[in-house]
Amino acid sequence: MDTPHPRLSVIIPTRNEAESLAPLWARLQAALSGLDAEIWFVDDSDDDTPARLTALQGAHAEVRLLLRGGEERRGGLSTAVVAGLHMARGEYACVMDADLQHPPELIPEMLASAEAGADLVVASRYLRGGDAGGLSGLTRHLVSRGAALVAQALFREARQSTDPLSGYFLCRRPLVDGIEFRPVGFKILLELLVCVPGLRVVDVPLRFQRRAAGASKASARQGLLYLRHVASLFLEVEGSARRWKFGAVGTSGLGLFLLGLWLVSGPGGIPPLLAFLPAFALSFGWNTAWNWSWSFADRRHRPEPGLLRSFLLRALLSTLVAVYPLFAMLGLTALPELASAALAAFAGMLLNGLLNRRAASLPPSIWGQVAVDAGVRSGLSRLALAVSADRAVVLPPDARTMSGAGLPAEILERVRSSRRAAIWTESVSHRPQRRRGIGLTSHLLLPVVDSRGLAGIVVCERRAARPFDAADLETALHAVDRLVEALAGAGLARALGGSGIAAEADAGAVASA
Ligand code: GDD
Ligand code: MN
Repeated sequence: MDTPHPRLSVIIPTRNEAESLAPLWARLQAALSGLDAEIWFVDDSDDDTPARLTALQGAHAEVRLLLRGGEERRGGLSTAVVAGLHMARGEYACVMDADLQHPPELIPEMLASAEAGADLVVASRYLRGGDAGGLSGLTRHLVSRGAALVAQALFREARQSTDPLSGYFLCRRPLVDGIEFRPVGFKILLELLVCVPGLRVVDVPLRFQRRAAGASKASARQGLLYLRHVASLFLEVEGSARRWKFGAVGTSGLGLFLLGLWLVSGPGGIPPLLAFLPAFALSFGWNTAWNWSWSFADRRHRPEPGLLRSFLLRALLSTLVAVYPLFAMLGLTALPELASAALAAFAGMLLNGLLNRRAASLPPSIWGQVAVDAGVRSGLSRLALAVSADRAVVLPPDARTMSGAGLPAEILERVRSSRRAAIWTESVSHRPQRRRGIGLTSHLLLPVVDSRGLAGIVVCERRAARPFDAADLETALHAVDRLVEALAGAGLARALGGSGIAAEADAGAVASA
């Protein structure tokens, strides 16, 4: 049971669940029998849950335990799940609640789905065959439903599951390596869906049970945290909810256009058909600046000239063929000037939205895509094997941290600016591994450079008595060369918004639109 890479890691956050532990463990053991699994409890309790968990750990080798105290507890459930995901070493990771609202009997079915090819399996209360009966009261039902609808309306990635707010899910574990999750509330799954676009998601029906014992930690405060979480996914994940950003920019540009027109033609006394031009130039500039820096912020780091050019061309075109002629025509009617301008500009906005609909619905091109690329994954696992690392991940070129690894920002900065590989071994005093009696954590950092500059930083991590040495570095440098080479065309380059191929693909999309 105690293999370094079990097939499955189950992650169970607990806070004051003393009563539930015994029945949970009995059912979990039965459900997982014959499966090579480790079970991580991440606990923030003030009752005697920790004592019971410690006893359980003493009796069963597959039980792992992180007892958090003080500062570590900040963020509660969300940071507990993220901590568990980063300590987990299984091929697959499953997150579930301890209060038996999530029947452990579902795990084998979820695992089978993942092994059949799903990246992420969600136990859904809202799939046919599932039910949300365990939610206490009508209000919670409505809140839960409403919250899911908000997420699905904003983020198309959340529409991949019927229950994007479920607390019960299973994924391939390497998916979460190297990704910086920052969930603020209870909704870790939503974070995963939005931050790793392109996942193959499968739902299985969940009959959400009533709580067996203890009390729910959900509260009005959690509701507020949820809103903050959604806001941060919207504002801080570049390229997320692109259609909404695009629409918001268009609407503000329309307002600016009308204001400009009114100023220039009214107080300015310029004839409307002439006043149109500066007003239009102003709003076009405004829209372009905001779309470039906000709606398409994710595409800015490694620009795709083809994409930008055709986007602007369409925007300009929709004005020339729709707005101006329409405005001129409406000017011949009895409509007030501003009303005709508003009508014409609105028509132009719709046309632009239609012409640019492909660009507006591009998924966020963020780092998470690296995680789902099969080529990158196999390259990384070959690298990990070559230097006997526990894992190898690629970080974005501008990464400041690597979650779960405690890598100091300075070392990343050094690799970034010098473009030279480095070895970093954690100092003894900060080892979270101490509890498990494993030696040092050591990292190899390797810059990946392509024709357009620094493309990413590969990090190998090893937790063992012997840290990485110069010979490992040498081996890794060779392996990384081959990784970059092998993936230049397919995986990495595309994931990086890369060179030739990505541009071609975009040109194709434009031509067929
Ligand atoms: N470590 C830790 N720290 N665990 C916590 C904390 C905390 O601060 N707060 C809650 N937990 C644990 C609980 O012990 C339980 O195992 C699990 O997280 C879920 O907590 P509940 O209090 O039972 O939450 P819930 O039933 O209201 O919400 C669940 O269902 C929602 C769907 O309606 C969670 O799974 C949510 O994530 C899910 O969205
Ligand atoms: Mn619960």
